[in-house]
Amino acid sequence: MDIVVSGIRSTGNLHLGNYFGAVRNFVKMQHENKCFFFIADYHSLTTHPKPEDLQGNIKQVLSEFLACGIDPEMATVFVQSDVPEVAELYLLLNMNAYVGELQRTASFKEKIRKQPDNINAGLLTYPVLMAADIIIHKANKVPVGKDQEQHLEMTRRFARRFNSMYGVNYFPEPEAYNFGSRLIKIPGLDGSGKMGKSEGNGIFLSDPPEEIRKKVMRAVTDSGPVEPNQKMPVPIKNLFTIMGVVSEPSTVKHFREKYASCEIRYGEMKKQLAEDIIRFISPVREKILAISSDDRYLAKVMKEGAEKARASASATVRDVKEIIGYRKMF
Ligand code: TYM
Repeated sequence: MDIVVSGIRSTGNLHLGNYFGAVRNFVKMQHENKCFFFIADYHSLTTHPKPEDLQGNIKQVLSEFLACGIDPEMATVFVQSDVPEVAELYLLLNMNAYVGELQRTASFKEKIRKQPDNINAGLLTYPVLMAADIIIHKANKVPVGKDQEQHLEMTRRFARRFNSMYGVNYFPEPEAYNFGSRLIKIPGLDGSGKMGKSEGNGIFLSDPPEEIRKKVMRAVTDSGPVEPNQKMPVPIKNLFTIMGVVSEPSTVKHFREKYASCEIRYGEMKKQLAEDIIRFISPVREKILAISSDDRYLAKVMKEGAEKARASASATVRDVKEIIGYRKMF
């Protein structure tokens, strides 16, 4: 049995990238492993959410977790800030994380480019908080998308460094994980990059059908192939990647053949893609609406999750402090 930990930032509704990169794995892994899935609301503070939005965002992501099939009877589902032990371990790990290595992290460099007006220290130490989230439960597997690979590498490094600094074999070195295959990246509909929460290129699990049709029909394409078996440009490849996760293999094959023989009509392909996304999302969306109106249930899940997560986290922090040298003097 593996110990599995993963989280999602509460900065917006879940999109197809979050689902296929992460949440789908959570649902599969919860049956046979000891799982901890959480809403990373401390991490969300790096983007300075308004106080009046914070709780609503947490509630939305929690409802989406449950609507996707994460079962709080099997997995420990909790909100990061309900487990203050994480903040304590983060502080302790920060003492052994070097500014140089944090500055070289790809996600930090990207933030510097994208939000030069808000390069806060929380962004710099983001990977340390992530490491604390993971190793506080001594996880060995972390289901995430491709974009988190470097953060997992850093988590392993921090775990290893702690072990060697204190001459212990306390923390396992966790691996980024995708059920049955390599880590994945779901592209956006804008022809470049990954699907994201703030990029305006995403399809959300809470999107109604008309919205999905509109978004997919607007997706970037080109004027079509002019010779047989022509190499596919990135925006078209992206549409096929999305089709690959939501459509039947026979549908993908059909459009691939049409592309290869230069007979493809992108309008037709997009229509099919939109309907396949709707078929997948509609039942989830209905569940999200039902669950998010059940405050008593959500409160119960949060409370029980917090208790279980705290029990596991506080045992680790107690051990870590002991290892570091905090001992009873009197
Ligand atoms: P976040 O909230 O950006 O994304 C949550 C999860 O969704 C995956 N993901 C994708 N996968 C494939 N294609 C995409 N386009 C795509 N977009 C997002 C991410 O890889 C991630 O698995 N730092 C994390 C949250 C976090 C965490 C942790 C994760 C905090 N502590 C500890 C694991 C373990 C984040 O911002 O993810």
